[in-house]
Amino acid sequence: MQQINIIDANKHVDEKVKIGVWLTNKRSSGKIAFLQLRDGTAFFQGVVLKKNVSEALFEEAKKLRQETSMYVIGIIHKDERSKFGYEMEIEDIQVLSETEDYPITPKEHGIEFLLDHRHLWLRSKRPFAVLRIRDQVIRATYEFFGKEGFVKFDAPILTGSAPEGTTELFHIDYFDTNAYLSQSGQLYEEAGAEAFGKVYSFGPTFRAEKSKTRRHLTEFWMIEPEMAFMHQEESLDIQERYIAYLVQSVIDNCQYELSILDRDVETLKRYTHVPYPRISYDEAIELLQKADFDTKWGDDFGSPEETYLADHFDRPVFVLNYPKALKPFYMKPHPTREDVVICADLLAPEGYGEIIGGSERATDYNYLLNQIKAAGLDPKEYSWYLDLRKYGSVPHSGFGLGLERILTWLTLEDHVRETIPFPRLLNRLHP
Ligand code: 4AD
Ligand code: MG
Repeated sequence: MQQINIIDANKHVDEKVKIGVWLTNKRSSGKIAFLQLRDGTAFFQGVVLKKNVSEALFEEAKKLRQETSMYVIGIIHKDERSKFGYEMEIEDIQVLSETEDYPITPKEHGIEFLLDHRHLWLRSKRPFAVLRIRDQVIRATYEFFGKEGFVKFDAPILTGSAPEGTTELFHIDYFDTNAYLSQSGQLYEEAGAEAFGKVYSFGPTFRAEKSKTRRHLTEFWMIEPEMAFMHQEESLDIQERYIAYLVQSVIDNCQYELSILDRDVETLKRYTHVPYPRISYDEAIELLQKADFDTKWGDDFGSPEETYLADHFDRPVFVLNYPKALKPFYMKPHPTREDVVICADLLAPEGYGEIIGGSERATDYNYLLNQIKAAGLDPKEYSWYLDLRKYGSVPHSGFGLGLERILTWLTLEDHVRETIPFPRLLNRLHP
């Protein structure tokens, strides 16, 4: 008899098979027991009919406890009534391990309780669906950049220089000196772009964010492409094609997961149409003021402003050329304006806000040196980065996509913490 996974049940209709499962819930009457089962690939129902099995097996089935691990053996049937579409008529059960009282019961639990039990909560339906979509987005990222001729170029995690400002750095002892956990791989990707043309990194990044918002983790994963001989407009073209590609690949490969999350596929399809609207920061301020926000030129956008802007267009929108004072030292100055830089954030609709931050990079050695000094950074720490402007400096652009930010939007979760296996937050390092 063949051992299969639940997800392949459709290929074995009317066949007798064996599946390794955990019990998630059950319900029984005098003649029938319904076992809700999962095996990591999907969730489905097993039915034990008293008339089909021995008295002892039927009694055992009725007593099984949540999260008992076992093999079930039986015939696969179509089951039009369930989301999954198939069920098993069970003929035999081989218990592998019984359980104590499982803490996560089918009733509602508070979020702190669930986070304390994240190692078990992962088994529930929503985390299952969200983290499978995470896997798909990672897979599609490698596909997209591979097809576009990018080289995967890994940035270090232990670093001596800070790309995004010094206030949010995690300091660690590094033998007899100081090191930081990387906030961004960007500066290293710029070195990579001068060696390989088009590169990208994908790895964990760390920010000592003191803010407790639904968009901030202290450890999050970022995809950071960097392209030589490329201006900002072409970078935006790549960004929107990349996002549309990710959305399409989730639509194509995660129908089951999207149905678990009740995510409307028609809405997602809208986001596969490019180009996305592009507005300037100045225009964004005008739109906000017309809508009675008291935002002034020079203010950064918080979540209400970003939500308004993306909802105004009902799709992702690029906001271009923010005030220089709001952005890091490395961005290219505007050719005719002192007060803004050549950059863009991509804002997601449906209340999710910034998912990408990117820019064209300053190419002039002296300009960058002054910027580094003005930011209060030590030019010695950045001498290697300044070398990139000494030896064959070229126009180049790049961006960073926050993996948990795009996932929170695609899955309509309330908080970025739901989209990473073990979230790290201001007040959470365990489990
Ligand atoms: O806008 P940020 O700070 O840009 C950079 O780090 C650039 N060096 C990227 C580049 O050009 N290579 O961060 C980029 C993205 C944000 O748009 C957001 O999606 C995500 O990273 N992000 C966070 N995600 C979760 N928790 C946090 N604390 C985040 N901070 C930024
Ligand atoms: Mg940003």
